[in-house]
Amino acid sequence: MVFSKSRNNAAVSDGDLIRRRYDRLAPWFDSLEGFMEGLYFHRLRKRLWAQVSGVHILEVGVGTGKNFAFYPADVRVTAIDFSPNMLVQAQRKRDRKQLAVDLALMDAESVCYADNSFDTVIASFVFCSVPHPRKALKELYRILKPGGQLLLLEHVLSSNKVMAAIMNWLNPLVVRLVGANINRQTVKNIQACPFQKIYIDPQSSDIIKLIRAVK
Ligand SMILES: C[S@@+](CC[C@H](N)C(=O)[O-])C[C@H]1O[C@@H](n2cnc3c(N)ncnc32)[C@H](O)[C@@H]1O
Repeated sequence: MVFSKSRNNAAVSDGDLIRRRYDRLAPWFDSLEGFMEGLYFHRLRKRLWAQVSGVHILEVGVGTGKNFAFYPADVRVTAIDFSPNMLVQAQRKRDRKQLAVDLALMDAESVCYADNSFDTVIASFVFCSVPHPRKALKELYRILKPGGQLLLLEHVLSSNKVMAAIMNWLNPLVVRLVGANINRQTVKNIQACPFQKIYIDPQSSDIIKLIRAVK
């Protein structure tokens, strides 16, 4: 685990640092991403959620609840996040929309659910910021039922060498500012788990990936 110094000089773990960034961003998060949402992300979220199957659904890294609009009508979703302030925003949105979603403060790297619990585990733009992505993926694999699916919408490191070099160079700054890594290799990380099948949606771009992995 990587430790750095906080403003009051106490050692903070990389997980604490990322959580704090999201706590700080929470009140402005929706407005900050508003332009990209309308332009591009909204369509991809719709496509991601259209693939949900089964009745026990877990959303990981729910954030401010941007995906609430896409929740299927006939399922009950449990949604977790490790940032208390992001969850407060999600709670407000849930109450405003009168949605039946259970929200819980929980770290994706250590979830409290039993093995083989969920039909679908879903996340959007989360594995850029999960501190230890392989650890979290292992947990999500564990709680998926056999035949269950992991659905992800993620931005990843470009396959273009020049672009990748720029992303790697900029990454420490972006992490410091907003808590997200722009150089994650999420497809490789999923391939390191024992999923039976991994599909990359053809609507994916070089950097924005729609991924489906079946246990
Ligand atoms: C970029 S935001 C995306 C939020 C939301 N999924 C969306 O599509 O707008 C990333 C979210 O993942 C959460 N997150 C990051 N690492 C996490 C972890 N280990 N466990 C739970 N939540 C985590 C952050 O707190 C934040 O709310």
